[in-house]
Amino acid sequence: RTPIIIDTDPGIDDAVAIAIALFSDQLDVKLITTVAGNVGLDATTENALRLMAYYGCDVPVARGAAEPLIRDYEDATDIHGKTGMEGFDFPDPKTSLLLKEHAIDAMRRTIMESDRKVTIVPIGPLTNVALLLKVYPEVKARIGRIVLMGGSTTRGNKGVMAEFNIHSDPEAAAIVFKAGVPITMAGLNVGWEALVLPEDSAKLPAMGKVGTMAYNLFKKYRGGSFKTGLKMYDPCAVACLLAPELFEFQDTYVGVELAGSLTEGCTVVDLKGYLGRQPNASVALSVDGKGFRSWFLDAISKCC
Ligand code: BDR
Ligand code: CA
Repeated sequence: RTPIIIDTDPGIDDAVAIAIALFSDQLDVKLITTVAGNVGLDATTENALRLMAYYGCDVPVARGAAEPLIRDYEDATDIHGKTGMEGFDFPDPKTSLLLKEHAIDAMRRTIMESDRKVTIVPIGPLTNVALLLKVYPEVKARIGRIVLMGGSTTRGNKGVMAEFNIHSDPEAAAIVFKAGVPITMAGLNVGWEALVLPEDSAKLPAMGKVGTMAYNLFKKYRGGSFKTGLKMYDPCAVACLLAPELFEFQDTYVGVELAGSLTEGCTVVDLKGYLGRQPNASVALSVDGKGFRSWFLDAISKCC
């Protein structure tokens, strides 16, 4: 099983992505680290600990960055609700799993102690991962790859061109893309095709506790999209690991726009090689939407 660390800001789609990873027999989730994103750090950390209680899992959780490296923090409560996981009554957080270490110290220790290279799966803003790579560069050689949800090959969801996770902390994202660690990027362009349609959601309540949770959270996720199809952004990153055959990838250079007057936080994905730079990421260009839907339902049915 591939050892992984999930860096997350739960988050409704985060909650589902974490469940799929935890219950996969191909992945070994060693650590969950939290970051401010969809909601503030106290809430994302509490949510991660509530998920552990609900899933009956004992993965340690470490608190990370409460704010972006440079920018002001902005939440996404309009999408995920005030708590970040609105719509379902979770048990109390399993606080015994909360480490005293900061996320980057816990990540470093987990990576250096592992006898196999560790994959990092960031599904929130990249603040923790950037800090890790800058403060402890020795981890780079021990990271298998970083498989992240963020960015877009086309348009944004936080403004015209920028995606939320990258837009939240573009300096951190720039550090990560420049780090020289292998990166797989699952952006909005695949998230928009990775839909859970109403007929799929209808099957969830019969799929055990994770399905029941997902069904209730989904009713609150992104306003009216329960009826038109829910975009499974963060599960796409996990799917890139577990079912890469569903995606088409291209090795390419990805830069992060830090200074654009209209495009701050945009991932500049140089698919045609205009910039003449070495590829730094394997970018998911497209996903088989039908295949994703059946993969997703199958994965949820196997949870717990
Ligand atoms: C990303 O932003 C968050 O709201 C989701 O959890 C996902 O990680 C999509 O842009
Ligand atoms: Ca997220």
